Amino acid sequence: MKPITIIANWKMNLTLQESIALAEAVEQRVRTLPERISVLLCPSFTALPSVQALVRTCLLGAQDVFWEERGAYTGEIAPRMLRELGCRAVIIGHSERRAHCGETDAMVRQKVAATIAAGLIPIVCVGETRAERDEGKKEQIVHHQVVEAFSGKLSGTFASPVYIAYEPVWAIGSGNAVEPTEAEQMHALILHALRESFSQEVIDKSFRVLYGGSVDRRNVAGLLAEPHIAGCLVGGASQNVKDFCALLEAVTNIA
Ligand code: PGA
Repeated sequence: MKPITIIANWKMNLTLQESIALAEAVEQRVRTLPERISVLLCPSFTALPSVQALVRTCLLGAQDVFWEERGAYTGEIAPRMLRELGCRAVIIGHSERRAHCGETDAMVRQKVAATIAAGLIPIVCVGETRAERDEGKKEQIVHHQVVEAFSGKLSGTFASPVYIAYEPVWAIGSGNAVEPTEAEQMHALILHALRESFSQEVIDKSFRVLYGGSVDRRNVAGLLAEPHIAGCLVGGASQNVKDFCALLEAVTNIA
């Protein structure tokens, strides 16, 4: 059975106290899961130290990072600062950051390079908008985003996995996930796009493609049944104990 990674993206929704309460409850549940299921929690920056202090089985991730190690970059957080807090991974290029904060492919690339160099695991989000999909451009857009994110010279080893999350923008928060077969096709396309930058051996060893966009307890098993879907990036359904534990239950029940 393949290893499965479930990443909880809490976005900007929970206060410190809410994050602590949710992390405590999820941690209890995750301790009883089979080892092949890993759960990574991505709270807001302000909750990272407190959540880190109480998780042992869950891994910790951040929702964003800057690409420089230090300097006059008011308000930004460097990769080494995340490492210092016990973060193992960081979400990069989420469509909400691309849409609301003007994050470009070039910025995503710099963040990916800095993250890998710092020994953190990047979770790189790619995905087409509704308009791009309607124009028949989804393959072209996603291929381009993947190639851009990993172009240029990357230093550091790929010992840890590198995650790419296929998150169609129109599916996020909509209640309508992509059909598993369509997600599977896009995952295969993403792995193929990586061949522009990496050998097949490196891809097989290091890259894992996750699906994100309205994943919940009802659709998660169907998605994970597809061979190239290595896990899910979950927003809404990870932000309260009941929904997230129900989702984890559904993952555990996969034969
Ligand atoms: P959603 O969000 O599960 O609420 O659709 C996923 C994401 O934005 O990462």
